[in-house]
Amino acid sequence: MIIKKTITHTLLAASLAMTGASAFATNFKVAIGDAEGSAQWAMATKFKEAFEAKTGGKHKADLFPNEQLGGEETTVNSASMGTLDFSVLAVNNITPFSPTVGILTLPYVIQSAAEAKTLVTGEVGKELTENTIRDAGVRIVGWTFTGFRVLTNSKKPVKTLADLKGLKIRVPKNEIMIASYQAWGINPTPMAWGETFTALQQRVVDGQDNPYITVSSMKFNEVQKYVTNIRYVFSLEPIIVGEAMFKKQPADVQKAILDAGKEATAYSYDYLLKTEDRIRKELVAKGMEISDPADGEKEWIAKATTAVWPKFYKSIGGKEKLDRVAKVLGR
Ligand code: MLT
Repeated sequence: MIIKKTITHTLLAASLAMTGASAFATNFKVAIGDAEGSAQWAMATKFKEAFEAKTGGKHKADLFPNEQLGGEETTVNSASMGTLDFSVLAVNNITPFSPTVGILTLPYVIQSAAEAKTLVTGEVGKELTENTIRDAGVRIVGWTFTGFRVLTNSKKPVKTLADLKGLKIRVPKNEIMIASYQAWGINPTPMAWGETFTALQQRVVDGQDNPYITVSSMKFNEVQKYVTNIRYVFSLEPIIVGEAMFKKQPADVQKAILDAGKEATAYSYDYLLKTEDRIRKELVAKGMEISDPADGEKEWIAKATTAVWPKFYKSIGGKEKLDRVAKVLGR
C-alpha cells in the first residue's frame, strides 16, 4: 500500500514536473509582468514574505519579474491550464479573458486611489473575482495599486486633444483603451506589453500610457520625454492563481494564499501613497517634462465618457453594473 502510494505520488510529481505545474510542489512560481522596483514587484515581494511565513516555511513563492515566464497576456492561460501557479499583471490584460473586469478600465470611473481600493476590496471586487474564475479559470487573490496611467511621448508636450493628433500611441490589446483614444481622435496601436519598450526605443510608436512607478521601473524615461498627467484609468494589477491549482491545495495552504493576498493588497496601497510622488520627482530630475491637460481635462473626460461607456455596457454585464459602482462610490 505504502509502495503504491509512493509510486502514485512519484508519477504524479513527474507528470506535474513535465507540465511545469505544481499542485503538490513546495515552490510556487510567481510571474511578474514588470521589472524589479515596480509596484507589481513590491506587492509580490510582500505576498511572498507573508505566504512563506504563514506556511511556516513549508512552501516558497519564487518571483520571476520582467515577463520571464511569458507575456502578461499569456500568463492568464498558463495559470488557467496549471502550467504556472501565480501571475501579477495589469487588469487591462485580463479583460480580454473576462470582459466584466473591464468596468475597472472604463475611462474616468475611478477617480482616486481610495476609490480603487473601495471597489476592489468590497463587493464589486468579490464579484469580479467570481467572474474571472468562471470565465478565465483564474482567481484574483490580491491587488496592486499602481496609480493613474499618465501619457508619455518622445515628441512634444501634449495638453489638448489637438496636440495628440499625429502621435502614434501604444495601448494594451484592450478594447476599452483603444476606444478611449479613438474618442480622443486618434487610432492607437494595440501592442503586447513585452514589445513596448523596444517599440518606443525604435520609434515604431511615439508614446504610451502607464503610471509613474511603471514608467520609472521600466526605464521608459530613457526613451520618452514628455508626460501628460491624464487620469483616465487608475492602474490595478491583480495577483491571480490558477483555480484548478488553488482548489487542489489543502485548506491551510488555500487560507495562507488568501491571507497573504490580503496583506499584500494593504501593503501595496501604502506603498503607492509613499512612493509615487518621490518617483515623479525623480523622473523630472532625470529630464522628463510634465504637463497638465488644459482646462482641467474637461475635453478628454467628456469625449471619453460619452463615446466609450455606452459601447461597453453589454460586456461589463449591463449599465446597472456601472450604476452600482457609482452608488458604491457615493456619486
Ligand atoms: C500594459 O500597459 O500592458 C500594462 O499596464 C503593463 C504593466 O503590467 O505594467
